[in-house]
Parts: sequence; structure tokens; C-alpha cells
Amino acid sequence: MLPSYSNFGGKIHGGHILNLMDQVAFACASRHSGHYCVTASVNTVNFLNPVEVGELLIMKASINYTGNSSMEVGLRVEAENIQTGKTKHCNSSYFTMVAKDESGKKVKVPGLILDSTDVARRFARAIKRHEQSQLRSEQFRDEDFVLGDYLEVLKERNVKIGEGLLGASS
Ligand SMILES: CC(C)(COP(=O)(O)OP(=O)(O)OC[C@H]1O[C@@H](n2cnc3c(N)ncnc32)[C@H](O)[C@@H]1OP(=O)(O)O)[C@@H](O)C(=O)NCCC(=O)NCCS
Repeated sequence: MLPSYSNFGGKIHGGHILNLMDQVAFACASRHSGHYCVTASVNTVNFLNPVEVGELLIMKASINYTGNSSMEVGLRVEAENIQTGKTKHCNSSYFTMVAKDESGKKVKVPGLILDSTDVARRFARAIKRHEQSQLRSEQFRDEDFVLGDYLEVLKERNVKIGEGLLGASS
């Protein structure tokens, strides 16, 4: 990791790591499907440990789940100190990639071969994540939001309720 990738605090910029993760997810999904892929979504990325300038970044990727045209790519990012050889887990995330043909139409992707417990576990967990994400989208539709249902909860948080909001709730 070069100094030019660092932020004002001297650590490697999170956005730079996300960019690399997206490229690795693209490579993994495109290679599995035999088609160029686009990123449909990125599941939570928690930055567990900072990456330092001079460390070697290791990215591990696997296809966890295959749908019709979509694939979930699981990514694990580690940073290795070149001098000590010590590695640390920096983040993990799940990218959903969709395979497209030359005209931009979605194409069917080959299904995964479930040949070990690990592979089956990753596939089963991906199904759960997919279901939870669909549920979340349904539960948090903008048009279903009723301010009155949340006003008391909001007042207990580190906020100031402005006049505009009080007016909107009455
Ligand atoms: C993502 C995209 C391909 C979805 O296309 P669509 O016509 O809405 O297609 P569908 O709703 O049928 O979804 C196609 C597949 O993607 C999956 N998908 C779509 N949106 C998704 C999301 N937000 N998260 C996870 N999966 C998603 C669907 O579940 C479906 O999977 P399946 O084929 O395995 O069943 C399309 O919106 C797109 O091209 N977006 C721009 C992608 C892009 O430019 N990415 C670069 C980042 S800027």
C-alpha cells in the first residue's frame, strides 16, 4: 500500500480498499460466469482494523451463492506486515454481482457445485442474507414512514428537534 493511498490520518483510505474489493469481486464473478459482471449491491463492510502504508494487502474471494443471473462474492481482506510476516483481518464483505451479455442483458450463470460443508455453509448463509435484505427493503419503504411513530424515540437521541419537524408531526 503506497503513501499516496493514505488519508489525513496516515492510514490507507477506506474508499481505496473498497475500490480494490470491487475489482476483485468483478474478477471472481466474471471468471465464474464467463461474462462481464456489474455490481448490484454491497453488503455491510465493517472496517475492523486500519491498513498501514507499506503493508501488503491480501484479498480472498469466493463465489458463495449463485442465483439466476446473480452471484454473491464473499471477500476477506487481510493486511500483512512485510517485515514481521504478521497478518490482521481488516474487513469482510459480500458483493452481489450480476452477469450481463454483450448487449447488457442479464444472463444465466452456472450453478455452484456444493462439494464440502464450507461451500454449503456459505451458500446457506447467503440465502439467509438475501432474505434478510429483502425483508429490510420491505420494512423500510419511504412511503410507509410515519413520523409520529418515531418522534419519542428520536427525542431520546443526541439530536435537537427543529421547529420544522415539530410542525410536520402535528
Ligand atoms: C443490478 C441490475 C443488474 C439489476 O437489474 P434488474 O433489471 O433490476 O434485474 P432484476 O431485478 O431481475 O435483478 C437481477 C438479479 O440481480 C439481483 N439483484 C438486483 N438488485 C439487487 C440488489 N440491490 N441486491 C442484491 N441483488 C440484487 C436480483 O435478485 C436478480 O438475481 P437473480 O437473477 O439471481 O434472481 C441493474 O439494476 C443494473 O445494471 N444496475 C447498475 C449496476 C452498475 O452499474 N453497477 C456499477 C456500480 S455504479
